[in-house]
Amino acid sequence: MAHPPNFDPATEERISPAAKTGESLDPADWPAFRAQAHRMLDDMLGYMEGIRERPVWQPIPAEVRARFRSAAPYAGEELAAVHAEFMQNVLPYTQGNVHPGFMGWVNGGGTPVGMVAEMLAAGLNANCGGRDHIPVEVERQVARWVAEIMGFPETATGLFVTGTSMANLIAVLVARDAALGFDVRATGVAAETRRLTAYTSKAVHGCVPKAMDIAGLGSDALRQIAVDSCFRMDLSALAEAIQQDRAAGLTPFLVVGTAGTVNTGAVDDLATLADLCAHEKLWFHVDGAFGALARLAPDLAPLLDGIERADSVAFDFHKWGQAPYDAGFILVRDGEAHKNAFALSAAYLQRAERGLAANSPWPCDFGPDLSRGFRALKVWFTLKVLGTEALGASISRCCALARALEARINATPELELMAPVELNIVCFRYVTQAPADSNRVNDAIVVGLQEAGVVAPSTTRINGRTAIRAAIVNHRTSRAEIDALVDGVLAQGRILCGKESRA
Ligand SMILES: Cc1ncc(COP(=O)(O)O)c(C=O)c1O
Repeated sequence: MAHPPNFDPATEERISPAAKTGESLDPADWPAFRAQAHRMLDDMLGYMEGIRERPVWQPIPAEVRARFRSAAPYAGEELAAVHAEFMQNVLPYTQGNVHPGFMGWVNGGGTPVGMVAEMLAAGLNANCGGRDHIPVEVERQVARWVAEIMGFPETATGLFVTGTSMANLIAVLVARDAALGFDVRATGVAAETRRLTAYTSKAVHGCVPKAMDIAGLGSDALRQIAVDSCFRMDLSALAEAIQQDRAAGLTPFLVVGTAGTVNTGAVDDLATLADLCAHEKLWFHVDGAFGALARLAPDLAPLLDGIERADSVAFDFHKWGQAPYDAGFILVRDGEAHKNAFALSAAYLQRAERGLAANSPWPCDFGPDLSRGFRALKVWFTLKVLGTEALGASISRCCALARALEARINATPELELMAPVELNIVCFRYVTQAPADSNRVNDAIVVGLQEAGVVAPSTTRINGRTAIRAAIVNHRTSRAEIDALVDGVLAQGRILCGKESRA
């Protein structure tokens, strides 16, 4: 990059501390760097320890936002100066999902264990696409643990990915190639005479139709089956849709069941879906983005019966696994099919019996990424340090809090529950006198709560109406935040409906 117009090479302080050594980008003064790095670690531990004293979220002031519009830095600054800028302009304006009052969307809270493990992974700077090194073995060990947790055989294969959106895409691609034959990777779906169709419920997450689109099958080829009053897939409608498509000469290949729908947390009848898929010879995939890890909670695990018979399961460790973002995972029963859908031979990726190029197959043979970070380490630490029992107990607690919220809503005439509470998601609304005001008032309540910074739910639409949606995913959330949510909704709702004036 050329010097900026105001750059004077003679001005010593414009020269970056790293560039001053001229030898490498490492610090010129390691002891000073170490002291500064310790301060940064301490600050982040302090952030997590004191998270309850902060607002969940706060709007970004215009002058802070403007600071992120400056030109690319030509000369570097001291690490301490950039850290100070981070503390002032980044740390206070994050989304807030570390905070116990965060209930929006479906986001995990992270843990200090995951945070320090992430630092270790960054230090190793491992590229987990392949080759013979222990980080790949750590990922394989986690994959075997996942297989054990989900009730899959040891021969199942697993891979860390960004999130469940990517994991679902991988599942669709493996299922597609298994149905059409792996030559389709070379010939392309456009050359196919068979028209594949897939099935899921209307409560599906948007990433599944997107996966069908990316896979070249088209989102219209995903039949979104009606749901019952509990938002679970209507299985007789599913069977009928499959028969109709077969009669029309189409080729059904995949059923996607959901373990914890994004809107309401409903769990499809996975055991019956497994039976149906076995009978119809269809690939059975489960989107268990957050719900799959409820297998760790003895009181909830029976809800997921049948998941152990799926062909593939997608889920996130960054949700109920509480690992820092991002940590999605795909588990595939038939490891050969998984590999055949992605492996590629290239001279520069030649495998060897010994040396660094040994230890094939490599993670890059099971997904689209070649270069991949060491996501497995933060999950490995989380599982080893916290244990599956404590993680399962925190998942149970989230669901118990959701039931407590449900009970408070049911006991409060000004509030109305909008969907059954099966796991950890509660959809409800403030009841307005004029039904026409309902969406506007409930949207405004949620914005008001987010701006007040005590609790942060989000909204969704249930049967065309705005719902306040509380997804209890954070292990730090307690009864205090549930009560603050109800009290806050009532206070905001009364003000908006003119029953009380603003204090
Ligand atoms: C059921 C379901 N599927 C898929 C996803 C997408 O997961 P991710 O955001 O990790 O890609 C979500 C996200 O909340 C979800 O709830």
